[in-house]
Amino acid sequence: MRVLVTGGAGYIGTHTLLELVAAGHEPFVVDNFENASPRALARVGELIQRPIPHATCDVRDRSTLTEIFEDIRPEAVIHFAGLKAVGESEERPRDYYDVNVAGTLTLLAAMEAVDCARIVFSSSATVYGAPDYLPYDEAHPTRPLSVYAKTKLMAEDILRDWHSAHPQSAVLLLRYFNPVGAHISGRIGEDPQGWPNNLMPFITQVAVGRRDKLMVFGDDYDTPDGTGVRDYIHVVDLARAHVAALTHAEKTPGAEVINIGTGQGYSVLEMIRAFEAATGLEIPHEIAPRREGDIAAMQADVRRAETLLGWRARHGLAEMMASAWGWQSANPQGYTTDN
Ligand code: UFG
Repeated sequence: MRVLVTGGAGYIGTHTLLELVAAGHEPFVVDNFENASPRALARVGELIQRPIPHATCDVRDRSTLTEIFEDIRPEAVIHFAGLKAVGESEERPRDYYDVNVAGTLTLLAAMEAVDCARIVFSSSATVYGAPDYLPYDEAHPTRPLSVYAKTKLMAEDILRDWHSAHPQSAVLLLRYFNPVGAHISGRIGEDPQGWPNNLMPFITQVAVGRRDKLMVFGDDYDTPDGTGVRDYIHVVDLARAHVAALTHAEKTPGAEVINIGTGQGYSVLEMIRAFEAATGLEIPHEIAPRREGDIAAMQADVRRAETLLGWRARHGLAEMMASAWGWQSANPQGYTTDN
């Protein structure tokens, strides 16, 4: 299918482009390149040996977006574009509602203009909030704890209501757990700007010498070793989930919410040890106070992804670690210095 990919130059977007092309789809990227590098798209082009067609456009720019849709006539959309830092969302709520919620509405308007009725949306496990039980299944109540989480849930609601009004449409709301790792080539990977918010890029930046040590946020949680537990998923598995979602959307109208994780939880200390084992490097770390807003543990019930999409994660922790290091060690400053 012709697939328009918003935010396609980002971390998950670039990995998904490779899987889309491998599955025979024709992606077209729309990105404003505010938190992504054109070099990332160039690297994808290099890997598939042809350039990825793209346009520089903000997802809130309705007239340009509609022109692009009229030109490309996509048969499906994958909507990655959005702001994604939990802490920042509390400081800049207007921007988060604007990009993540209003941007989704603009996108739907552009889709309607060309009768495009399939969308795969990049949602987040963070919409669940504090767990009543674990693993979270998709029926778990949603009680978002941050502005970021609220914007993701609002966008989900908008898309669900849009489906009700357009029963022939296919809306797949993928609730990602914690994506880590990189493509095996080491040519694309996660490249956060400034201070990394997330655990994995922090570990790799310590390993490459950009940071002195990792702060472990709390060791007094109710978890086996006291540190936070998350369901880390290899970004290539996550990318493959989008291809599976498109295959489903191609044939089956409906609105579905689907967890995308491995079903397996690892603590911060286990992550550090796994990285050290995979790379032979030592990660200096120190126990620090809990980070505000963090929960002790989260883990996905992944049965729906398997029954509905026929998808499950294939890559284990060692591959997540080795590939994350493959990317970071070959690109110590990310995409800033090209080679
Ligand atoms: N952590 C540290 N030190 C750090 C960074 C993180 O100890 O420097 C710990 C956290 O306290 C937590 C775990 O590592 O226990 C994972 O933290 P991340 O920041 O990597 O991930 P989160 O689970 O907090 O959040 C991420 C994304 C969200 C997304 C969510 C979905 O940042 O956008 O996963 O589960 F919504």
